[in-house]
Amino acid sequence: MNAIVSVTQDWGIGFDGQLLVRNRADMRRFVDLTMGGTVIMGRLTLESFPGGPLKGRRNIVVSARPDYEPEGVEVARSPEAALALAKDDDPDRVWLIGGASVYEALLPRCERAYVTKNACEVTADAWFPNLDEDDAWSVESTEPGGVTEDGVSFEYVTYRHVTRDEAPRKPFIGSLLSHRTARSRRT
Ligand SMILES: NC(=O)c1ccc[n+]([C@@H]2O[C@H](COP(=O)([O-])OP(=O)(O)OC[C@H]3O[C@@H](n4cnc5c(N)ncnc54)[C@H](OP(=O)(O)O)[C@@H]3O)[C@@H](O)[C@H]2O)c1
Repeated sequence: MNAIVSVTQDWGIGFDGQLLVRNRADMRRFVDLTMGGTVIMGRLTLESFPGGPLKGRRNIVVSARPDYEPEGVEVARSPEAALALAKDDDPDRVWLIGGASVYEALLPRCERAYVTKNACEVTADAWFPNLDEDDAWSVESTEPGGVTEDGVSFEYVTYRHVTRDEAPRKPFIGSLLSHRTARSRRT
């Protein structure tokens, strides 16, 4: 699974339920990358889309609300349940698309993060973790983007997760017991 996000200089991603930066070129790139794949998002992100679920993609929406079942999406009651729904999909085509709460929960499970960096500062109430300050991530590539319709320069930075959490680890007591069993078999 990969994450995809558009950030401002201080890694802001949203305010009052909306995006911070209008960037048509980035929107087109988002569509190109995600089309035909699976997108995982939080309920508030789905509700921020004027056209509803994203067309041509499998939409998985995280919500704890028991009666929440909008048309055109599959609902997962937790971030882990969203991963379970997508487990048979090609991992390169599963996209974590936000917002902040779902990024926070599932970023440790992503292999790459496709970050559009917009050179502006805007008031935000939702953020993405600053990957430049996180040793678990390193820059894999940087591509020039251009300038948005509002005159903001941007670039595309791809980060690679160098120390990634895999599937939930065995509980410590379980590992200890299996280690002991292995040792006792040898002796
Ligand atoms: N810049 C970007 O690339 C980008 C991308 C996406 C979103 N955004 C922005 O991000 C903001 C939204 O982010 P957000 O964090 O407020 O909302 P969000 O992550 O989109 O959705 C939050 C909702 O997801 C559900 N959820 C989250 N964690 C859960 C858990 N552990 N178990 C069960 N349900 C869980 C809850 O739904 P229920 O309340 O129904 O239980 C929660 O209210 C908006 O401003 C949006 O525009 C920006």
